[in-house]
Amino acid sequence: MHYARTVHCGKITAEYLEKTVDLCGWVARRRDHGGLIFIDLRDRSGIVQLVFNPDFDKQAHELAHSLRSEFVISVKGKVVRRTPETVNKELPTGQFEVHVTALTILNKAKALPFMIEDAEHIDEELRLKYRYLDLRRPEMLERIKLRHEVFFAIREFLQKQGFFEIETPILTKNTGEGSREFVVPSRIHQGSFYALPQSPQLYKQILMAAGMERYFQVARCFRDEDLRADRQPEFTQLDLEMSFIEEKDIQDCIEGLLAYVWKKIFNKDLPIPFPRLTHAQAFADYGSDKPDLRFDLKIQDCTALFEGTELKFIKAVLEKNGKIGALHVTDYEFARSELDGMVDRAQQIGAKGLLWIRFKDGQVDSPVAKFLPGDFYEKAQAIFPGLNPKSTLFLIAGAYKEAWTLLGRLRLEVAHTLNLIPLDQFNFSWVVDFPLFEYNEDLKKWQSVNHPFTSPQNGWENLAKDQMKARAYDVILNGFELGGGSIRIHNPEIQEKVFEILGLSKERMQKEFGFLLEAQELGFPPHGGAALGLDRLIMIMSKTSSIREVIAFPKTARGIDPMMEAPSPLEPIEKLRDYGLMMIPGKKPQS
Ligand code: AMO
Repeated sequence: MHYARTVHCGKITAEYLEKTVDLCGWVARRRDHGGLIFIDLRDRSGIVQLVFNPDFDKQAHELAHSLRSEFVISVKGKVVRRTPETVNKELPTGQFEVHVTALTILNKAKALPFMIEDAEHIDEELRLKYRYLDLRRPEMLERIKLRHEVFFAIREFLQKQGFFEIETPILTKNTGEGSREFVVPSRIHQGSFYALPQSPQLYKQILMAAGMERYFQVARCFRDEDLRADRQPEFTQLDLEMSFIEEKDIQDCIEGLLAYVWKKIFNKDLPIPFPRLTHAQAFADYGSDKPDLRFDLKIQDCTALFEGTELKFIKAVLEKNGKIGALHVTDYEFARSELDGMVDRAQQIGAKGLLWIRFKDGQVDSPVAKFLPGDFYEKAQAIFPGLNPKSTLFLIAGAYKEAWTLLGRLRLEVAHTLNLIPLDQFNFSWVVDFPLFEYNEDLKKWQSVNHPFTSPQNGWENLAKDQMKARAYDVILNGFELGGGSIRIHNPEIQEKVFEILGLSKERMQKEFGFLLEAQELGFPPHGGAALGLDRLIMIMSKTSSIREVIAFPKTARGIDPMMEAPSPLEPIEKLRDYGLMMIPGKKPQS
């Protein structure tokens, strides 16, 4: 077989004119005109047109009749300029073609399960079953290339900043980060299990105890949680940790790194530092701890407007110390059907109802208009700056946390419906001053908002649990939580106190985290760090809507790898015996 490649398909330029080249690749398209056969030959670099003509070589032309989509071939031929009327402006190599004088078929392809260029529109399971075909699409190739380039830039930046890249174990123990973990049975230690890491959290802290000072890792993390467009059971983080630092040092490092990546990839200067919002402010204004700041549309508290109201459902909310929040949309006249549509959408995202009020010709127009006072418009003007006859208010009443969470979701719905989101923008921010703990009503216990190794802010001992703040920060990009981190606890007394609040007995503390508490007594430097979700970063950079589009071999939304058919039963079933395990048939997993 002959395939000494001298140039890549997409790299054919005027420099090669009248020269003989050797090319390899896949048959992307074939047009057989009998006398002349045209092939679009594709390799990783792009596409070039081949022409087979019996006058160039009889044998090659003869063999070319048998070519079909996705055959792998190598050719020898002469690069010539296309006639002006046959130039393809869409293609970087569109001014040239290769007149083939020798053809070798390296591999044949049977009828394809789908046409490569149609892959975007077919069932995702089929796409993932034949992921190698899907990945041959130029769009997919671009995303994989972008991913590589971003990873490379990250490594370059951190190398310059004096970080060590250090790997930490995959077979480990529960890292205490709150999600359900995947477990791996041990054959040698029957009845015992490894856990796959939810992140390298504890190892990176221990690396600080070990004096590494600046660590990073492109780390694979595993979480057995419900999947969504921005969540996979295994995903990749840029994990980093530094010693002898404060919040600002980590934030500067992350900002510097993202700015470096943006410059390298997009040749754009990212404005740094990113704006900072407290967690409380972000929630009050946007009903979210990851606000999309590409558009404004803040939530307004209009509880005061309804003091002494006759509206029964609002009265009931106010009696329970609830609140009323509103989104104020200006300069858009909703049709009645659109308003009904918004009510439906609010219900779909979990609201019991949505109240709309608008001001047609100075008159209040709303399903509850007759229960509103005559001077409602004037009173509302005091609360909603810029309220005008073209304004529409969308209101939700309820307990603060629930009502604002719903308003936050509705804010996004409204923004999508009215096209308020500038899609070409990258908007970064930090959310800081997170609460340290939150009460889990279902489990009736306090939990860490971040993780139990996060340092509390000064003066925490004197506050109620729900008032304690964490030295934690999240970096937000276009409404996605891109990453998060914190300053850690390095003092065993504080660590024990936090564990106590989380309901861990002394015995359990020792059993699960004894090694950490001990390390904190053997010279532990102050330290902190952060982790960025790299799949999410690449998803947003490439403007795709799911992280599955930027992972070479993702799991489906049902957690399945259709190509390898994982997960799969242990076969033969006797294998279970090696691990000392037994199947209980029909037992449904708990979600
Ligand atoms: P956290 O749990 O916030 O922090 O995770 C950091 C970032 O990882 C990404 N991420 C995910 N991406 C895809 N699929 C998932 N299932 C998934 N879960 C999380 C997000 C998230 O912001 N150890 C801490 C970091 C630290 O404190 O240094 C941690 O893992 O982008």
